[in-house]
Amino acid sequence: MLSKERETNTYVIDVEEGAETARLLEQDLLYNRAQGGLLPEELDVSSMTHLLDIGCGPGGWALEVAYTYRHLGVVGIDINPVMVNYAFAQARSRGLENISFEVMDARKPLEFPDTSFDLINARFIAGFMDQTAWPVLLGDCLRLLKPGGYIRLTEMETATSNSPALEKLHDYLHQALKKQKRSFSVDGRSIGVGYMLGKLLREAGFRNITKTSFFNDSSYGAEQHYSTSKDVELLYPLIKPYFIRSGIVDERTFDETYAAMVEEVWRPQHVAISFGLTTCAQKALD
Ligand SMILES: C[S@@+](CC[C@H](N)C(=O)[O-])C[C@H]1O[C@@H](n2cnc3c(N)ncnc32)[C@H](O)[C@@H]1O
Repeated sequence: MLSKERETNTYVIDVEEGAETARLLEQDLLYNRAQGGLLPEELDVSSMTHLLDIGCGPGGWALEVAYTYRHLGVVGIDINPVMVNYAFAQARSRGLENISFEVMDARKPLEFPDTSFDLINARFIAGFMDQTAWPVLLGDCLRLLKPGGYIRLTEMETATSNSPALEKLHDYLHQALKKQKRSFSVDGRSIGVGYMLGKLLREAGFRNITKTSFFNDSSYGAEQHYSTSKDVELLYPLIKPYFIRSGIVDERTFDETYAAMVEEVWRPQHVAISFGLTTCAQKALD
């Protein structure tokens, strides 16, 4: 019998996979570092009081923000109760009283009053969004922000690498995302979401749009080689059912490609770099 979350969720990974919690905890540390910190230095956090993190996962980023900026009230939302329970337990064990987490579906109107937040953050949510969901969510974020409030969206492209099998797995992902109109890629050769966020924000009515790029070098010998290689090892088996359901690849071909990838990413000659983009924008003051 499927749980309610499992029936309705459109995320590319089964929301009840425990391995996904562990993977996200590692991923969180990895990208906090790659992004050069929790929030941009130029953002005046001292005048803010309320922050929302959409698709917060096990809460790593939100918990660090609540710990660093004790004057802020932080709320993290995620559709997955396993993530939310984990995040709550972390908040309790760290004695953080300025943070809470709620199970909420970000593809539905968010259950907060208008003008509740100074800052809304959403990192790596492309896996549950699609071409029609983005404008709806951004419109809702505009409603939830106070005048002059900020939104901060971060998405990445898959790595470019010299591993033929990793490239093939990325290719399956790009094709599956395009097939389901989750991506804005015109040819199914990229994740194709990050590059569109500025345009989507402008069309939703946001102003003062700024973009900051970052990268993750996961080549053999680089600092992030181990954690990123472990991340792709964990990630692709979790996405496998989505690929099979999408009809992009058959099970045997997937298994062979995955086995080759696991071998290739640990070779001393392995080179892989991925790029990401954080797009910030503001709600008008009037
Ligand atoms: C790739 S993770 C990103 C986690 C976190 N933001 C980070 O930066 O590490 C995507 C998260 O979105 C959650 N999710 C999936 N579908 C969702 C939905 N419809 N509404 C809210 N969260 C959702 C997943 O449970 C997962 O925790």
